[in-house]
Amino acid sequence: MSELQTTIHDEARQGEQFAPFNQDGNTYGKHFYIESYGCAMNFNDSEIVASILYNQGYGATKDIQLADLILVNTCSIRDKAEQTVRNRLQHFKGFKRHKPGMLVGILGCMAERLKGQLLEEEKLVDIVIGPDAYRSLPALIAEAASGQKGIDVLLSREETYGDISPVRLDENGVTSFVSIMRGCNNMCSFCVVPFTRGRERSRNPNSIVAEATTLVEQGYKEVTLLGQNVDSYYWQSDDGTVTTFADLLIAVSKISPRLRVRFSTSHPKDITDDVLHAIANHENICNYIHLPVQSGNTRILQMMNRNYTREWYESKLNRIQEIIPNCGLSTDLIIGFCSETEEEHQDTISLLHFAHFDHAYMYSYSERPGTLAARRYADDVSEATKQRRLAEIIEVHRHYALQSNQKELGTIQIVLVEGFSKKSNNDLSGRTDTNKFVVFPKGNAQKGDFVKVRIVNITSGTLIGEILEII
Ligand code: SAM
Ligand code: SF4
Ligand code: F3S
Repeated sequence: MSELQTTIHDEARQGEQFAPFNQDGNTYGKHFYIESYGCAMNFNDSEIVASILYNQGYGATKDIQLADLILVNTCSIRDKAEQTVRNRLQHFKGFKRHKPGMLVGILGCMAERLKGQLLEEEKLVDIVIGPDAYRSLPALIAEAASGQKGIDVLLSREETYGDISPVRLDENGVTSFVSIMRGCNNMCSFCVVPFTRGRERSRNPNSIVAEATTLVEQGYKEVTLLGQNVDSYYWQSDDGTVTTFADLLIAVSKISPRLRVRFSTSHPKDITDDVLHAIANHENICNYIHLPVQSGNTRILQMMNRNYTREWYESKLNRIQEIIPNCGLSTDLIIGFCSETEEEHQDTISLLHFAHFDHAYMYSYSERPGTLAARRYADDVSEATKQRRLAEIIEVHRHYALQSNQKELGTIQIVLVEGFSKKSNNDLSGRTDTNKFVVFPKGNAQKGDFVKVRIVNITSGTLIGEILEII
């Protein structure tokens, strides 16, 4: 997903964040600098951490020179993600020599996976804190400041941070993430997430609706409901009332007709007709589904422990098309998983021919220590083969991405303006309901407006438009 436009999950996404004043307009006594890597859930967690630190009198800064505390919220999904973080930690370690008393903390999935290693063996950090332990950050800062080891990597079966209002750190002010659940019970064999994020648990729907309502009151126009497997969201209240993911989607969509609602990520084995009908029947639930398939071959899917076959996946795509014609669709693919043959690789290519995805996030398999696949299967597809297969997949996907955008030429789209385009302050950018990225001359429109745009040109990644009216 590019990761920023379409909201989700890549270790390449990286943020620096800044909020220098407290609610009274005074400057803060102490400052933290935070860098976030990984999926949208991690970025959302950084906003929970910011909220906890604000209550301790810390303000955020983008200027590392001003920081009393440097935090790195990390991702373990692929080896490359961890290497990036290691390089940053080395950099910060060097920086610390010039600023005695400054503390460096590692947060998130890599902290959970490596536990005390970065603290004890490599002495890269002062604080190590896992995704379910952020409430203990103030205590750990105090411990680290007094020269003790600050570590808490306990996973929880209950923690959802439901009562903490995240401090929005990015400057967009239009789109926001809301975490609806944490953890994952799926145990896909390649995946480190169940080990770093623990058991799946859903958050109280009242707190989700309250958070989204506050966002609307603050002027936000879009929320993305986040979970590793949103379709298994489940909440039973004390009086026995059950809230499913479809119920939750509808409840959030009812907050305001001018609030766009998105979600990520769905699992092909769990997405229900109820969810598809909720999308079809509610104008402001976006017609877009991210449905990671991982492979087009059933034997590989079984080894991945995905619990569906290629045929099941194809039938889900047909069902989506039936209930939500013209639904935007994207996927994730892992190339070169253990023992994948040329024929099985061709099955993934043929799935691309079947599915015509609008977007695809394509990764070569990276073995993660401790996962089921690392224990059971040899990582025996050579790096050269993985890279060659990945290039082939990318090429086929590009063809369909271009074709999908070509279909939009001449159409009229409603776009939520998210800000200036990256290349020019004369152009604005935003996304369609189906999650296509559009750039257009700004006219009188502003960030946060919904605009009717005619598509006049395209590339494989972007639609180029002209504004017809602000609505
Ligand atoms: N929960 C989502 C799902 O079920 O698909 C996404 C989880 S993960 C954060 C995002 C993507 O990273 C996965 O869909 C998968 O394609 C990719 N991924 C996960 N583990 C990987 C690994 N060991 N090597 C390469 N890619 C991986
Ligand atoms: Fe990982 Fe699978 Fe859970 Fe997604 S559903 S987070 S890929 S274990
Ligand atoms: Fe990475 Fe953890 Fe998200 S491993 S993708 S930051 S859940």
